[in-house]
Amino acid sequence: MRVGILTGGGDCPGLNPAIRGVVMRGIDHGFELIGIQLGWKGLVEGIVAPLSLEQVEDIIYQGGTILGSSRTNPFKPGNERQLEACLENAKALGFDAIVAMGGEDTLGVASKLFKLGMPAVGIPKTMDNDLDYTDYTFGFDTAVGVALDAADRLRDTAKSHRRILVLEVMGRHAGWMALYCGIGAGADWILLPEVALDLEEMCAHLRRRRERGKQWGLIVASEGVEIPSADTEDITVDAFGHVILRERGVAEFIAKEIEKRVGVETRSAVLGHVQRGGSPTVFDRVLATRLGIKGADLVKEGSFGKMAAIQGSQIVAVDLDQAVNELKTVPIELWESIKTLFK
Ligand code: F6P
Repeated sequence: MRVGILTGGGDCPGLNPAIRGVVMRGIDHGFELIGIQLGWKGLVEGIVAPLSLEQVEDIIYQGGTILGSSRTNPFKPGNERQLEACLENAKALGFDAIVAMGGEDTLGVASKLFKLGMPAVGIPKTMDNDLDYTDYTFGFDTAVGVALDAADRLRDTAKSHRRILVLEVMGRHAGWMALYCGIGAGADWILLPEVALDLEEMCAHLRRRRERGKQWGLIVASEGVEIPSADTEDITVDAFGHVILRERGVAEFIAKEIEKRVGVETRSAVLGHVQRGGSPTVFDRVLATRLGIKGADLVKEGSFGKMAAIQGSQIVAVDLDQAVNELKTVPIELWESIKTLFK
């Protein structure tokens, strides 16, 4: 079988270990493995190159993706020609299967292409950890580690200056990144996209803390938090229609509000793409490798339209269609239970 592998959407640590897993298992299955460059853009433009054992055997520790990535969306209205090119190139290049690694966007495209007859399987990656039907996506653990390190550093300077520091982390419309980073850092408040912004509730808490002598503070805010000032601003969207959230200035807005309402000098820091780079953690390396192996096995079995997933400690196959149907966001009960930490 001739099998194409691509990585699409925002990159994250773990993509290289996953590519390695697919290739290594694919070799056992006798596949001819082809790297499609730059996500779906590579299929649209026919940019491919063979993937050998030598190319992948020593990439397990590397961040990014050796295949490159893009946010090309052949299903975007107006991109009909791209869609035709995808289908034509998949045939012309002789692909018997395509293994797509991505989040809701890239795998959403894979799912739609599968419905149009393309033999596709999915592997879930995203630092946002917001794909449904899988407990974790690789990239998340590494990115949270980076965010946590930043939070710990901000705590040091917040303490020295008796200030409040607001850290904005990525994660788009799911608050997993902010939640895990905030719990891990012992933050004084965590702002999630799933919870309506209540500045007064947060500031009353910050005032109470000062009254009992804690002079400094650390807030972790998700980039996806709805803020009033964002409503009227010009917004930029990507090829999948997602608003570029960092342009809304969540951390800066929150910091100004705290200063006004609590009367404490407050600074903000936006972590941005720093979270997407670096060597994957062992959790991400192992998860990505196991998912990659499963992806190759799904191709071998002819289980197309499926996504490899982790549920509990087991690697399983789920329907791609279902996995991309709804985002996995932070349940409100989980938020309610961790509010006990804000004392
Ligand atoms: O989906 C991953 C992610 O890092 C989000 O957390 C973030 O909002 C977005 O990608 C940023 O996208 P880009 O790299 O296109 O700026």
